[in-house]
This record gives sequence, structure tokens and C-alpha cells, in this order.
Amino acid sequence: MMTTLIKGGTLVTAERTFAADISIEGERIAAIAPGLPAGAAEIVDAAGKLVFPGGVDPHTHFDLPMFGTVSSDDHYSGHKAAAFGGTTTVIDFVSQDFPSLRQCVEAWHRKAEKAAIDYSFHMNLTYFDDAIAAEIPSLPGMGITTLKVFTAYNERLRLEDGSIFRVLRIARDHGMLVLLHAENGDVIETLTAEALAAGHRTPEWHARTRPAWGAVEATLRACSLAAQAGAPLYVVHMNAGGEVDMLDYARARGVPVMGETCPQYLFFTEDDLRRPDGSKWICSPPVRTAADQARLWAGLGDGSLQVIGTDHCPFFYDGTQPIDYEGEAVAIPGKELGADDFTKIPNGLPGVGDRLPVLWTTGVGSGKLTPEQFVALTSTNPARIFGLYPRKGALLPGSDADLVIWDPGKKVEYGVAHAHHRTDYNLYEGWELTGMPEKVFLRGRLIVDRGEWKGERGLGEFLLRSAGAVL
Ligand code: URP
Ligand code: ZN
Ligand code: ZN
Repeated sequence: MMTTLIKGGTLVTAERTFAADISIEGERIAAIAPGLPAGAAEIVDAAGKLVFPGGVDPHTHFDLPMFGTVSSDDHYSGHKAAAFGGTTTVIDFVSQDFPSLRQCVEAWHRKAEKAAIDYSFHMNLTYFDDAIAAEIPSLPGMGITTLKVFTAYNERLRLEDGSIFRVLRIARDHGMLVLLHAENGDVIETLTAEALAAGHRTPEWHARTRPAWGAVEATLRACSLAAQAGAPLYVVHMNAGGEVDMLDYARARGVPVMGETCPQYLFFTEDDLRRPDGSKWICSPPVRTAADQARLWAGLGDGSLQVIGTDHCPFFYDGTQPIDYEGEAVAIPGKELGADDFTKIPNGLPGVGDRLPVLWTTGVGSGKLTPEQFVALTSTNPARIFGLYPRKGALLPGSDADLVIWDPGKKVEYGVAHAHHRTDYNLYEGWELTGMPEKVFLRGRLIVDRGEWKGERGLGEFLLRSAGAVL
């Protein structure tokens, strides 16, 4: 069996930072202690470096058809980009495209055959009836223990409150967790129709027609449905400060609610939508205000929010111009589809590879987060909440040897040239970052080495997640 010894590093977990070596046997961590004997192991010198458990991003959309195009990273290119940024596990959302949930899951498995890192799936529930209700309990047998519901996108993705309440009760009975997209679909429909009728076409109207109050109200509404169903709830892509207040309100009353935010909501505001290239920042829910950012950061610092995911759902800025991807010219229709109409701009942003580098500099580097909080928010907490811990998200004997050797002194001018997303832009273009992954291991195998790709298609494994997970 191949053995590797990672020697002389400083390990950072969600609980503590300490000096120790890590020995890897095959795909697993075998031992963690200072001064481990080298024996016949291949030695990786980690002196002066940090060692984290591989990042776990519980919110990606690879190869997702929408807006008459498709998100531009697939389950290979997106995985590769994730790995370059220190993420070794992703959880993608299965669309409800077929009458039975099993068919939907099988279709997503086919898309993911090219996986380059480990992955799992959440099931989107965008249509609900008695047959679907009867089928949901079969999902944990397929390794899927999480269901996403939407209070927006009327006539497309939205479920009515009564259906969400029923889904929550089924989830409760089967140890599953409901994920919520919180916006007010009815208000959005009305405001969008009015904006178009008044001739408003520019990207800022995307945010102006999706007010923060809708997100706040929908978060509280779903928390109250969860309370009445006796079920836990996880609110995805939290963007408005008031949503954090609503989570705190529910939690203070004993409702087991959890929240995720994403880097775009911490760094950008509606002002970015007013830039000439504002469509790059279009996502749903939209980016908000500086006051919202401050509340989200506070929530991350005090534990009100448990996870930073990405909602990675990239599109080209100009999908008429090919980029070079692994030696091939690739162009996929993107944001230009909505050049004359904000409602036609594909909703979503790149981010799966940016998450750790950007947050290390802006979160840990600024003192807003401790290194342990950084690991908890980006790896350990999502692993626990989504039933992957301690296989993932941990530096423990027996855990998968998904490891990031992090160079805390590495300075880069970040941007599209550093990120490996399959798109033509990066939201953090020109940002000065300090701290980058140097080596990334997936189950003991080196897949990124000082900016060089050593991974391959098909190396990623589907992760069967266990029901009944708790943080
Ligand atoms: O704009 C976004 N976030 N697109 C992905 C879909 C979603 O609701 O997460
Ligand atoms: Zn969503
Ligand atoms: Zn999403």
C-alpha cells in the first residue's frame, strides 16, 4: 500500500491548530502525531505550511440547463477548479426533470461520470404530489438525504407553503434535511412585470425586483413551517442581514435552523450591478448592501451562520468569444443573452475555486475569522450537516486523506488567470490575495501540485450520505 508522510506542517481543524505529521496509507489518514517515523513513506515537506481538511462545498450547479443555455462548468471542469482552490468534495443539485425521483438521480449520475473530486447530490423538489411524497423516503437509500425547496420562481420551481410543510414532515420522519431558497415569488412576479412595462432593462433591476424583505419574510415563513413540522431547516445562499435575524429568532425558540451564505454576498453590493459589466454579478437571490454584508460577517463570526458555500453556477460574460480550455476553444452562451433585458441574463456566478483563497485573505487575514472558524465554515460544518463527517471535513485517523497543504505566505494577484473555472471572467479580478493552496490530495492522491493539475476525469467518487446527520 502506498504510504505518504506529510511532515512538519501546522494542522488546522475546526477545533484547534497544532504541529503534527500526518501519515497516509492508501486513501485514508493512518496517524497524526509529532515526529512520526518516515519508514518507506514518500515524504512531503510541509514545514512553514498549514494543513487543512479538504474544503467541502455543499452548493454547486454543474452542467445545469437554464435560461436557454447551460452553466459553463461541468462535473469535470468544475471539480478541477474546486480542487485548485482547495475543495475536494462538492454537493450538486439534481433537477426534477423526470416523473420519478429515481430517474432524475440516474440522469445526474450520468452527467457526473467525469467527476474529478468526490461528490454527492441534493434533490431539488420543484413539483410535489402524492406520488413524489411516497418516493421521497427512497432517496436516503440512494445516498441522498437533502431536499431543496423554493418559495420563488412561480410556475417553475416554487412549491406552495402547504407542500413545503408536507415535505418538512416527510424529511423529519426519515432523518432528512430540507434546504430552502428564500424569496417571495409573488412580489418578484409583480415587480418584474412592472419594471419591464416601464422600460427598465438594466442589470440593477434584477435586484430591484427581488427585494431583501422577500428573503427575510420567506426565511421566517419557512422557519415557522419547520417549527410546526418539528423538522430541521437549512437556508441556502443567505444574502440579507434580516435573514440572519430570523434564523436567530427561530433558534432562540428551539427550532433547529441552520444557514449558509456565499462569498458574493460578503463582498459585492447592488452597486456592482450598476457597472457597465454588471451582468457578471447577476445571481438569485441578488447581492445586497454594505449593511447586509456586515450582518452576514457578524453571523459568521458568532456562529449564527454555519456554512460558507458558493452556489457556483457560472456563465460566460461573453459567450460569443471562445476561451481556451485544456487546448480546446470553448464558447457557451452566457450573460450576453440578457444584454437588452435583465430577465434574460442567466442567473449565477463562478466561485467554487475562489472560496478558500478569497476567504483566507479577507476573513482570516483581516481578523474577522479565526483559522479554526475558516475550516469549520468551509469544510467541517458542511461535512457534519450533510452526513459526510468524519469521512470528510476532518483530520482524524480513518478519515479520507483529503488534504490541503496551504502556503499562508503565497501572494498572488488573483483573477481569471489563477482560477480554473471554465468561464471568461472572475469576480475577484486583480484582488491581492495572501495564502493559496500548494498541494491538494484527494483520498491520498496528489491532484494539484504547485499550480499543476495531476488529477483526472473519473477519479471522483459518489458519496453515500447518511440520514439523521446533526451539526
Ligand atoms: O443565481 C443562482 N444562484 N443560480 C442558481 C440557482 C439557485 O437558486 O441556487
Ligand atoms: Zn437557490
Ligand atoms: Zn444554488
